[in-house]
Amino acid sequence: KKTVKDIDLKGKKVLMRADFNVPLNEDGVITDDTRIQAALPTIKYILDQGASLILMSHLGRPKNEPDPKFSLLPVAKRLSEVLGTEVVFNDDGEVVGQVTKDAAAALKPGQILLLQNTRFRPEEKKNEPSFAKELASLGDVFVEDAFGSSHRAHASTAGVADYLPAVSGFLIQKELDFIGGALEDPKRPFVAILGGSKVSDKIGVINNLLEKVDSLIVGGGMAFTFLKAQGYEIGSSLLEEDKIDLAKELLAKAEAKGVKLLLPVDVVVAPEFKADAPATNVKVDAIPADQMGLDIGVETQKLFADTIKDAKTVIWNGPMGVFEFPEFAKGTVAVAKAMAESDAVTIIGGGDSAAAVKQLGFEDGMSHISTGGGASLEFMEGKVLPGIDVLENK
Ligand code: 3PG
Repeated sequence: KKTVKDIDLKGKKVLMRADFNVPLNEDGVITDDTRIQAALPTIKYILDQGASLILMSHLGRPKNEPDPKFSLLPVAKRLSEVLGTEVVFNDDGEVVGQVTKDAAAALKPGQILLLQNTRFRPEEKKNEPSFAKELASLGDVFVEDAFGSSHRAHASTAGVADYLPAVSGFLIQKELDFIGGALEDPKRPFVAILGGSKVSDKIGVINNLLEKVDSLIVGGGMAFTFLKAQGYEIGSSLLEEDKIDLAKELLAKAEAKGVKLLLPVDVVVAPEFKADAPATNVKVDAIPADQMGLDIGVETQKLFADTIKDAKTVIWNGPMGVFEFPEFAKGTVAVAKAMAESDAVTIIGGGDSAAAVKQLGFEDGMSHISTGGGASLEFMEGKVLPGIDVLENK
């Protein structure tokens, strides 16, 4: 795919899609600006080339109409702070109104304009050509760097590419290099670790990874459906009854492919889903009928950590237990620690596991923490990402 480095940007008006969908607290204050920071290398490069920049993003899920709760104003302010330069922003609720069009036309090289939340327009998610054309009319070239939104075929992520030359930014490239690199040509052993509560969310990922990995580690709530499929009694642990047969099929597929599928051998159980519920470590064949598993056990921590230690590539998506409760975060900590201490290429596949790694302080030890949630999952499923598919080939 072509990148910003493959085209001449001097004097151009660059229309760039970023993923500035950042978490805000009740007061509208940004609580984690990772996605803003992640867009900076591309933003700075574009400005350094003597271009002017028109940035667009969505924020949250407004109801296809202007809504002050979802204004990108806090993003404009933060961006201006971190860049140390003005970011022009029009807060009248319009995405491409006359004021914005005039501001875009008046931009000089080195200047930045941020459009209001693209989801204030109903045509955004429908990817309506008329809106894509309106957006495209503001710039001379389209730079797509919103990896986190690249699984959405929306006007601002994909549609605009019908009207402008389209290239990727450095963030997209980095995500493709790490996640794509691991999936296509991993250093082996290649180990994938999947967790989180539901098997149903991860079916596509498991299926695709079983074609690629040497070992697949399954923890978190979803492990209990697999344990049930193996005939264990799992008490009141999370169970997706209608996925037991599928779990059996996946276990059989792993065996047929020669993939080592590791499940917990012991778990931490408690009588209820509460931070201060009394925790007990039990073997998987001794889960009490009235208790639920909320984390992997100590023996399992060691088993998983040893597997990670021997790996050359590790990709992780989904926590091992209820990591929001310190008592049940130990399994997730153990996996994060083993990855941080390993010399392997270590990739965190976004979403909850990225949050866990940051919250637990293992950020620096990882080779790559994806900025995508849904996007990295779909990428790991082997799906085509519309926002990347529209980019020009070299
Ligand atoms: C995300 O946070 O995963 C992306 O910004 C996409 O947001 P969406 O799920 O609302 O499309």
